[in-house]
Amino acid sequence: MFKEVAKKIKNSKKIVFVTGAGISQESGIPTFRGKDGLWRKYDVMQLATINAFYENPLLVWEWYNERRKGIFAAKPNPGHYAIAELGKYVDVVVLTQNIDGLHQRAGSLNVLELHGSIIRIKCTVCNFKEEIKNELNDVLPICKCGNILRPDVVWFGESLDQDIWKHAIIHASQCDVMIITGTSLVVSPANTLPIYAKQNNAMLIEINPEKTVMSLNMDYSLRKSSAVALSEFVSIFRN
Ligand code: APR
Repeated sequence: MFKEVAKKIKNSKKIVFVTGAGISQESGIPTFRGKDGLWRKYDVMQLATINAFYENPLLVWEWYNERRKGIFAAKPNPGHYAIAELGKYVDVVVLTQNIDGLHQRAGSLNVLELHGSIIRIKCTVCNFKEEIKNELNDVLPICKCGNILRPDVVWFGESLDQDIWKHAIIHASQCDVMIITGTSLVVSPANTLPIYAKQNNAMLIEINPEKTVMSLNMDYSLRKSSAVALSEFVSIFRN
């Protein structure tokens, strides 16, 4: 099976990656679902919502500050580096649900952050947006306009940035190989991207140690970690 997949990948013109929390798991960043789905006593799914933020902004900021610290301290792993290296041999686009910036730090040039970035903050009211270089000092940061600031991420109950999403659909619809890794594919609309690729007759490859809700729709499912499987893929191009 691997040989067949390898041949297809080697002959591909455009590979689109759809990535999720699992690709950063080997960098020490916890995933959301499964055993990592708790932060202190809170269900993380309940914290990543616009309602949770307005009900208890301090708590949600505390969660993001703690995660940001972990992310700043983390390093890209061989999975991120393999994707960046693949970009030297073939047209590669990364459509990521991750907000950790590790694909970019590994050197990937074409990354669309579907769910925003933990490294940026924005105002809840005006157009202010800024990249965070150092840890925030304020427990509850306030914008110059007087309104509360928030992480520049997409929460449950919010829409994706429409421009980013439009481009994500275009890339997914144009690829001949889509590699889906580190995502449980339960969150919409990112989990519709494989459908756009399939409409272009693309080959769908899932890399995930666990089965997902869409495993049966894949052409190939590799039950490996992303770091292991992607390192194997990139070696096909080196040889
Ligand atoms: N390599 C590849 N996959 C892995 C690895 C690994 N080393 N470790 C875990 N996984 C897989 C898990 O089996 C699981 O299927 O990664 C997936 C992680 O799933 P989720 O935690 O649901 O993460 P994700 O799909 O990115 O979540 C989507 O939900 O909470 C929101 O906005 C948040 O972007 C996030 C979205």
